[in-house]
Amino acid sequence: MATVNGFKFKIIILLCSEFGSYVLGQYDEYGRTPYHQQNQYNQYNNNPYNNNPYNTPYNVPNPGDRDYRTYFYKGRRYGQQSNYYNNRWRPGDPRIQGQDEHFFYDPQGNEEPILPGILGAWRTDLQGKFRQQTKDKPRDIFVATTHGQVQGFLVYLFDNPDPDSLYRPGSEFIEREYGMTEVYLGIPYAEPPILEGRFKPPRWHKGWQLLQAVDFGPACPQPARYVGVTKGVRDMDEDCLYLNIYKPPTKESEVGQRFPIMFYIHGGDFIRGASNTFPAHIMATFYNVVVVTINYRLGALGFISTGDVNSPGNYGILDQAMALKWVYENADNFGGDRDSITLFGPGAGAASAGLLMVSPETKHIVSKVIAQSGSALADWTLIVDKYRAQNTSRVFGKLIGCSIESSWKLMNCLKQGRSFYEIGNSEFPPEVGLFPWAPVIEMNVTMPYYEGWNEKDWHFLRKTPEELLRKRQFNPNLKYMSGITLQEAASFITSNKSLEPNYIIDEQFFEQKIWELVLRYNYTLNLNGTFEAIKYMYTYWPDPTNKTHIRDKYVQMLSDFLYTAPNDKIVKILVEQGVDVYQYVLNTTIESFKLEEWRKVPHDIEHYLLSGAPFMDVEFFPDGKFKRDQWTNNDRNMSHFFMKAYTNFARYGDPTYTQILGLHFEKAKHGELKYLNLNTTYNSSIMWNFRQTESAFWSQYLPIVVGYLVPTYPPTTEYWWEPRAPLQIAFWSMSGACLLLVVLLVVCCMLWRNAKRQSDRYYNDVFMVPDTDTEEGIDNTRIANPYDYSEKIRTPVSVPARTNSASSFRTESAVSLKEMQGFMSSSPSEDYPRKGTPVLSHRQNKNKTQLMQGVPQTDV
Ligand SMILES: *[C@@H]1O[C@H](CO)[C@@H](O)[C@H](O)[C@H]1NC(C)=O
Ligand SMILES: *[C@@H]1O[C@H](CO)[C@@H](O)[C@H](O)[C@H]1NC(C)=O
Ligand SMILES: *[C@@H]1O[C@H](CO)[C@@H](O)[C@H](O)[C@H]1NC(C)=O
Ligand SMILES: *[C@@H]1O[C@H](CO)[C@@H](O)[C@H](O)[C@H]1NC(C)=O
Ligand SMILES: *[C@@H]1O[C@H](CO)[C@@H](O)[C@H](O)[C@H]1NC(C)=O
Ligand SMILES: *[C@@H]1O[C@H](CO)[C@@H](O)[C@H](O)[C@H]1NC(C)=O
Ligand SMILES: *[C@@H]1O[C@H](CO)[C@@H](O)[C@H](O)[C@H]1NC(C)=O
Ligand SMILES: *[C@@H]1O[C@H](CO)[C@@H](O)[C@H](O)[C@H]1NC(C)=O
Ligand SMILES: *[C@@H]1O[C@H](CO)[C@@H](O)[C@H](O)[C@H]1NC(C)=O
Ligand SMILES: *[C@@H]1O[C@H](CO)[C@@H](O)[C@H](O)[C@H]1NC(C)=O
Repeated sequence: MATVNGFKFKIIILLCSEFGSYVLGQYDEYGRTPYHQQNQYNQYNNNPYNNNPYNTPYNVPNPGDRDYRTYFYKGRRYGQQSNYYNNRWRPGDPRIQGQDEHFFYDPQGNEEPILPGILGAWRTDLQGKFRQQTKDKPRDIFVATTHGQVQGFLVYLFDNPDPDSLYRPGSEFIEREYGMTEVYLGIPYAEPPILEGRFKPPRWHKGWQLLQAVDFGPACPQPARYVGVTKGVRDMDEDCLYLNIYKPPTKESEVGQRFPIMFYIHGGDFIRGASNTFPAHIMATFYNVVVVTINYRLGALGFISTGDVNSPGNYGILDQAMALKWVYENADNFGGDRDSITLFGPGAGAASAGLLMVSPETKHIVSKVIAQSGSALADWTLIVDKYRAQNTSRVFGKLIGCSIESSWKLMNCLKQGRSFYEIGNSEFPPEVGLFPWAPVIEMNVTMPYYEGWNEKDWHFLRKTPEELLRKRQFNPNLKYMSGITLQEAASFITSNKSLEPNYIIDEQFFEQKIWELVLRYNYTLNLNGTFEAIKYMYTYWPDPTNKTHIRDKYVQMLSDFLYTAPNDKIVKILVEQGVDVYQYVLNTTIESFKLEEWRKVPHDIEHYLLSGAPFMDVEFFPDGKFKRDQWTNNDRNMSHFFMKAYTNFARYGDPTYTQILGLHFEKAKHGELKYLNLNTTYNSSIMWNFRQTESAFWSQYLPIVVGYLVPTYPPTTEYWWEPRAPLQIAFWSMSGACLLLVVLLVVCCMLWRNAKRQSDRYYNDVFMVPDTDTEEGIDNTRIANPYDYSEKIRTPVSVPARTNSASSFRTESAVSLKEMQGFMSSSPSEDYPRKGTPVLSHRQNKNKTQLMQGVPQTDV
């Protein structure tokens, strides 16, 4: 008896442990997944991102490096200030013993904290060149916001963007002060999206007593090669939702004056970029606008979508919406006019602006948009195909070493098993499309519920922007301005290190790139046809093999596909809806950059014009990037023109309210899509209908004639059906509990039977042994006899009733001991009798039972 019970006990244990490991396995999956990719990230650690200008033996670490350090001051986190503590050993220097995140710089250990930003020392990247005359000028300014008091600082400017100004750097011995900007850097507009905030919408910030907005907040996690002192992005952290405000000083006579607000959304294909690369001092001070620049979550942390409840996506763009609402609420405090908010930005920033313009959450706030080389209707702006979003998430999951069995497992692994650095630093080409991450359209997903978040926090866009535009779902006063540069895609060539230094593009390379494009987009009907169509469109027919022209055409192809055609599309729809639209096409380079002809006007070259680089101290830009006297007169005039046109648009809704340097814009009209062709300030002119054939090729011809442009991928497997974790756990726990109950019941019955048998031994003997014996005995003897075999087939007909009743656990006393016995002993092979095939092992089983039952018998 002991052995039988022991065996059953083992089964119970086994069942329990199986159950346990199945349920719990969901949790430690990420812990067990081997993380093969580890080395891939280390490759960046040795890269010399930071020039070390002080020739110390110590290389300044970058965010994410092992010995990278940050410190906290009054509850705020600051990255290491590699350049500004050069008289002492810097924080993070491994020669300093025993430091931690709260380290102090005082070598004597007098516990004097490092003061952040400009409070600690003169910060040339925040305050400009150090001059004796500004040292003793007033510095601190304070402003009250909805969240608490904010301390900012004044920056003094020593140049004037007026093109008639006679002052040029070096032309006067004593520098003259021309203006002053109120600057507030690193104001948190949302709770840090860390810990449980990862992969969730931003939350309204809880506020503060006094915030020292005296240094930039960290940039959002992104590939390490875009971060570093020489890139102008000093620090990177998951806690990155900060905005910066540049404001002209309010003059005594103009108290109560409201400045238009310009809200800058940085570009970078939704995977990189930071707000602090755009110094807006000149624009704010000399053109009287309040400029706000923001950070938003990037890459997977900002946009991963599993197309279901586990990660609906859009976190990065919800950040933008939250920042916009913060600005709307606080406009008054900064002297801004909340009814005149203009969004602007290049690339992904322009695309985001277009989405914010039609999103039900923000459309009432956005009254003007300046889209520099980007459109809300571009293929890379918004992912409308759920399977495309899922595919990218899966590719990413694989890359980072997470289980992609289910969306829940993937998200759980990313939430708890990976650092922000690992997630932010992973770069990969998506299998569908050219850029991996983008906002997604809501796909009828029930939004998840979490403590601390509301259902509505998750919503951004339920319909496509095109649909919303056609239904006039935007601010009734909307004005739109768009710009395109002539060689947008040149950076696709210059960013490829293996093509340096001559950037020769041959026919083969060109064809390969077309194929990549065709395959990435699954132009379904006819891959060859699509390839040939694109090749036809972008061949220089007078000399198809001339490499100079092939390169031009390649740049042209990507520019049209990514920027020109989508811009053309949105402009046409807006014009149809009666919105005022102004366009420019940039065909002028910044002369002092001395770029080759084929890439003289790359994507976002406006950046340096709009940030007033020709008039700024070079210290505001990353080390060694510019010289103070490198700019030509044309560069200065262009910079002035751009700042003036943009701010005019923000103020009046018309970029050339009055002529600027003899130039003026004209509104685009239906059938007459006018644009300002900007060669130089002298040789520019209004022209019509920019690249219409090429635009129509991408937005009309390819989709209709060759195949469907929007990639649609059927689900390859039935993956990712699982409910959300808590549901899942509840389900399995209930099943487990039931199973456990059943097993316990069986055990009880057994114990009860054993006890019973002790007293009812007599019945047992008479009842069971002969019966089993007879049945089995008959089987045994009849097996060789064909006649008897047929009877054997008949025999079981009566048997199933018994086995069935046993297996259905009808245990309440109705189950006879004999039935119990039969069930327990024959369960490993209970089907055999029914099939009517007598099996040896089965019989032996019975015999064994019988034998064991015999033991107590003889005992008596
Ligand atoms: C993504 O989609 C491509 C194209 O359909 C397919 O070949 C690939 O296997 C998918 N990747 C994943 C991880 O599902
Ligand atoms: C969402 O659901 C509505 C109604 O249930 C349906 O009409 C619509 O097509 C669905 N949208 C998507 C993107 O599946
Ligand atoms: C870079 O150029 C090489 C050829 O020199 C090419 O094979 C490769 O695909 C290019 N990479 C990218 C990202 O375009
Ligand atoms: C492209 O789309 C078609 C149908 O839309 C599908 O059958 C095919 O598998 C897709 N190709 C790839 C490579 O996924
Ligand atoms: C596409 O073209 C290649 C070579 O030009 C040829 O080998 C292939 O069979 C073609 N495929 C189809 C589907 O026409
Ligand atoms: C290619 O075209 C360029 C510009 O038209 C010309 O300068 C060059 O000589 C041509 N090269 C050849 C090999 O024909
Ligand atoms: C751009 O400028 C170049 C001269 O620098 C000129 O040859 C070309 O025609 C211009 N392109 C357009 C579209 O205006
Ligand atoms: C820049 O603008 C000023 C003022 O209109 C003008 O005098 C000067 O000639 C312009 N310079 C260039 C290079 O266009
Ligand atoms: C200016 O633009 C016009 C029109 O595109 C072009 O024909 C002309 O060559 C350009 N001139 C200069 C100097 O860039
Ligand atoms: C560009 O402007 C300059 C200065 O006015 C003029 O000499 C030149 O002819 C213009 N070029 C063109 C192509 O219009």
